[in-house]
This record gives sequence, C-alpha cells and structure tokens, in this order.
Amino acid sequence: MVGKPERQVAVFGAGYIGLVTGACLAELGHRVVVRDIDPEKVALLRSGDVPIYEPGLGDMIARNKERLTFTLDLGETLDGAEIAYVCVDTPPSASGDADLSRIWSVVKSLEGATHLKAVVVKSTVPVGTGARVRAALDAAGLAHVGYAANPEFTAEGRAVTDFMRPDRIVIGASDEATAQLITDLHHGVEGPVVVMDVRSAEMVKLASNALLATKISFINEIATLCEKTGADVEEVARAVGLDHRLGPHFLRPGIGWGGSCFPKDSEALRQLASNTGYHLQLLSAVIEVNNLQKRRAIQQLKDELGTLAGMRVALLGLTFKPGTDDMREATSTVLASRLLAEGAEVRCWDPMARPGEVEPWVSTTRHATPEEAMAGADAAVVVTEWPQLKEVDWARAAAAMRRPVLFDGRNLLDPAGMRALGYTYMGVGRP
Ligand SMILES: NC(=O)c1ccc[n+]([C@@H]2O[C@H](COP(=O)([O-])OP(=O)(O)OC[C@H]3O[C@@H](n4cnc5c(N)ncnc54)[C@H](O)[C@@H]3O)[C@@H](O)[C@H]2O)c1
Repeated sequence: MVGKPERQVAVFGAGYIGLVTGACLAELGHRVVVRDIDPEKVALLRSGDVPIYEPGLGDMIARNKERLTFTLDLGETLDGAEIAYVCVDTPPSASGDADLSRIWSVVKSLEGATHLKAVVVKSTVPVGTGARVRAALDAAGLAHVGYAANPEFTAEGRAVTDFMRPDRIVIGASDEATAQLITDLHHGVEGPVVVMDVRSAEMVKLASNALLATKISFINEIATLCEKTGADVEEVARAVGLDHRLGPHFLRPGIGWGGSCFPKDSEALRQLASNTGYHLQLLSAVIEVNNLQKRRAIQQLKDELGTLAGMRVALLGLTFKPGTDDMREATSTVLASRLLAEGAEVRCWDPMARPGEVEPWVSTTRHATPEEAMAGADAAVVVTEWPQLKEVDWARAAAAMRRPVLFDGRNLLDPAGMRALGYTYMGVGRP
C-alpha cells in the first residue's frame, strides 16, 4: 500500500461478505484476521480452500496469504487489532425484522478490546442499529472506540471487482476521526467515498436494494401487461432503458428476484417502516408482485400441460443468479416446492449450486447436464440464465423430451428459433 498506514483488521464472519472484505483489505496491504464460528469453514480456509464460489476470490486469498489468516480463536482475532469489521449474517427473524443476534454476539466478544480504534458494521442492519451498538460499546467501557456503518453494495458473482472498484464507499460515522480512519483504510480502492451520519448510511443500503427490487418488479408487471396486449417487453425495456434519466440496469424481466439480499432486505425495510407505524405501500406492492411472478410461471405451465400431477419438469439453473453458488431464497426453491406440491416430478441442473445448503430435493434430482435433466421431461424451465444454457443442443434436447414445452423464465433464448425446433416456447412478456 502506498501513502497510508497498514492497519491490523479483525473481520468477523467468513461468508460472502467477510471473505471478500478480508481478502480485499489484505490486497490493499492491511494485515487481516478473519474469524468465523463455523469450524468446517475455518478448517477449509486454513487448508487453502475457499468454501464459496466467487470469481477471483480464491486467487486473491492465495496471493495475500502472508497478510490474511483465518481462525476460530477470538484472542488471535483481536490480538493487536485496530479495527473490527462485523460481516456476520443478519437473516430475517420470525417477525420479518432482521435478526441481529449474531451482531450482538460479536459486540459482546469485543468487551475488553480496549486497544481497538473502531468497530465497523458492514452487515445489512435496520436503521438505528448503530446507535444501539454505540450504546453497548459505551456500556462495555469502549466509549473511546469509534463506530462506523460501512454497508456493502457488492453483487455476488462480481463481489471482488465491486469491492475494489465500487460505485461508492458509504461511511456513516459519528465522529470525523473514525470517518477518516475508515476512509484511509480504503486507500487504493477506486471509487468515491461518501461520508454521512450513521443512520443515513444504514438507510442508504436498504433504500438501494429496495429501489433495485422495485425496478425489477416494475418491468415484470409491464411484462405481464405486454403478454396481455401483444407487446414485447424486451423491446419495451430496451427503449425505456435508453432514456438517460432511467438507464438500462435492472430492467430485465424474469420469473422474480431472489437471493440472500433483496427478499430479506426489502422485508426488513418494510418491517422497519411498520415498526414506526408507517406502511410502505410501494415496497409492499413490489414484494407482492415478485411473489406472484414466481407463482404465475407455475400456473402458465399448468395451463399448458393441463395438470402438473405426474408431470416431469426440469429446472435449468438453481442459483438465484448466474456466477454464484448461492441458492438462498432462489426462485428455483419456490418453483420446486410449488411443483412438488402439485404432484409433479422435479429434475434439475445447475453448474455451481452448493449441495448441502439447499433444499433436500436437489441432491436426489440433480443431473450433470441440462440435456440429461430434460430427457423424458414434459416441460423445462430456464430459471437461471447460466451462459452454459446457450450451448445446449436444443434440437437434440427437444427430441429427448416427452413433451417439448419450454418456459424461458429469463428470456435467454430466441423464441422464433426455439419454436422452429419444435418447442412450445413461453417467455416472460414476449408475444
Ligand atoms: N451476500 C451478499 O451479496 C451481500 C451483499 C451486501 C450485503 N450483505 C450483508 O452482509 C452480511 C453478511 O452476508 P453474507 O452473505 O456474507 O452471509 P453468510 O451467511 O455468507 O456469512 C456470514 C458468516 O458469519 C458467520 N458468523 C455468524 N456468527 C458469527 C460470530 N459471532 N462470529 C464470527 N462469525 C460469525 C457465519 O458462520 C457465516 O460464515 C449480511 O448482513 C448481508 O445482508 C450481503
């Protein structure tokens, strides 16, 4: 690192965000100890393996092994640490609010770490969490330790690039020294730093995800209307996106958004509003449209096949998007559970989805290739737009199906071309 001091950083959580944060901070020249409570994960990392798939991450970890270590041990994590980065998961609780128990467990473990200069929360949290953490730190004799919210906007599948070249680095800090410390820590990252108060930084993260989800649900509603009026949503989205005030991003129609962030963060924002007595009407509709979008696909298949009972349906792609192994809240999980409930037989294919963390049906129904999954099927659904699907011999696959019904849930394929091959082709919002 040039020009700024190297720091000793403790990262809590070796998941998607903690690993990327730890590796990238090490790449920037800092000494980083990443702690997780999952012994299997830590053992894998210590043996040089990476427990998740994220492009470029494995190489970056290997390149920085002198400065980047992994441990279960709290003492080793905090030994000499100047900054504690909290990257633990914040899943939804039974009430829909974010479950902050892991955050509190980390904060509690910092008691006695009087040598820390700052505690930084990168996990996505409700507005007001920082104030509560601040109070807990004060009560634990850590009033001299700064606090910052530094939300992460990275997208899985391009998380390393996003960290090193972000659209912006948001730092919400209650004092200038902490804001400067965390700004300096990012020296070498190409992106503007935006400093603000803690609550606003927490809100930026939730508002950003909600707006992205809104754009997708919006174009999905337009897609439904296109189906009913004979317009082609692909043409509509292309032209709408050329308006510089709107832009082309997140205007891709499909069978609904999923993943570890959008569903949980939009629900958490909705609950945050409810807790203040305010009902976020637009966001509620955005969530509802998304839920419907997944179920509509099943109804369309049912309409085409007459019934789903006894039908064999191949799901092509399981992860919530290509380029990741993450199946959390993926559309495939909703489709599979609806299909199974209707009495259909599910088969599936995915090049990356991580077995073990997924629904039980995956291990028994997974095939090595899309063609294998489609053989003898009554319908196939493109759930995730993996580039491998472009390479499928669709003519051969159609011939091997019991009925060549294809629901292209990501508008990945050419409708006319697929129909010419004999498929009954259904896309999203295409005539
Ligand atoms: N995944 C994303 O794309 C993404 C993007 C932006 C923000 N976020 C947010 O970042 C946070 C982390 O997400 P993730 O996807 O990395 O989660 P994850 O589930 O992949 O990883 C969390 C890790 O924290 C570990 N952990 C739990 N309690 C711990 C403790 N007390 N000490 C140390 N480790 C502990 C878990 O074992 C797990 O390995 C969440 O708040 C999420 O909303 C995620």
